[in-house]
Amino acid sequence: MPPLFELRDVCFNYDDIPALRGLSLAIAQGERVALVGANGSGKSTLLRLLDALCFASQGSVNFDGHPLTAEYLADDQFAFAFRRRVALVFQNPDVQLFNPTVFDEVAFAPLQLQWPKEQVLARVSATLELMGIAHLRDRPPYRLSGGEKKRVALASVLVIDPDVLLLDEPTATLDPRSQSHVIDLIQEWKGSSKTVITATHQLEIVEDIADRVLVLEAGTVAASGTPAEILANHDLLLRANLVHAHRHSHGGVVHSHPHIHSHSKHEH
Ligand SMILES: Nc1ncnc2c1ncn2[C@@H]1O[C@H](COP(=O)(O)OP(=O)(O)O)[C@@H](O)[C@H]1O
Ligand SMILES: [Mg+2]
Repeated sequence: MPPLFELRDVCFNYDDIPALRGLSLAIAQGERVALVGANGSGKSTLLRLLDALCFASQGSVNFDGHPLTAEYLADDQFAFAFRRRVALVFQNPDVQLFNPTVFDEVAFAPLQLQWPKEQVLARVSATLELMGIAHLRDRPPYRLSGGEKKRVALASVLVIDPDVLLLDEPTATLDPRSQSHVIDLIQEWKGSSKTVITATHQLEIVEDIADRVLVLEAGTVAASGTPAEILANHDLLLRANLVHAHRHSHGGVVHSHPHIHSHSKHEH
């Protein structure tokens, strides 16, 4: 079986700004992968390429054995099947939400897919319940809090039950309770056939959301490993700008070493 996604030597530029520089990776169906890297390392650009919202200027991107190119996506049948299987939740929910009510927002994709009315109603209600936003169904999305908007954006994608979920910084800007709700949701897919690819710079969540971590650095994959392997590699994390060393003292001795900051504990 070919990998679900296979990228070879992919380059992508925004005009003359290089964002991906010779990036290669393979992701199997059912894998839960975290993309970690400092700001500007290329995480969001990579997710947009995986969602076929933009296309490699060099190198190849394959999905399930098919090249993901502008030509393939111009084929309605391929595009329809691809959009049914793969969904991206943007970092900023304001980019994603445009309907007058939460209900309309979550019903939008199923209606586009021309599901029967009763099925749409049932799926939308179930998804609103699952995401804990049933009480918001008649509210306009743009008037919700950041955490509520995020849950609506997730619901608007989960409602069609995609095979592949691409998440861009799903927990950034959320309060701790909303963060753990989103993490629980990602965890619920563990062991199923769903593929979940999450971009984050929050190292403290990767063990919960991923079985494999890819470290991005300046538009390439600098390392790949289990969360435990990657988190133990302090030199790598320091170089990738994911931890920083700062000076402090233990037992009267001042020294500096890299830290992972987590809200629950501060370990050495
Ligand atoms: N719309 C854009 N126009 C120009 N440059 C961009 C745009 N989006 C991202 N970039 C640049 O591409 C590089 C990768 O950015 P991005 O993929 O957003 O990284 P990350 O998500 O890891 O922060 C950065 O140098 C960034 O400045
Ligand atoms: Mg980003």
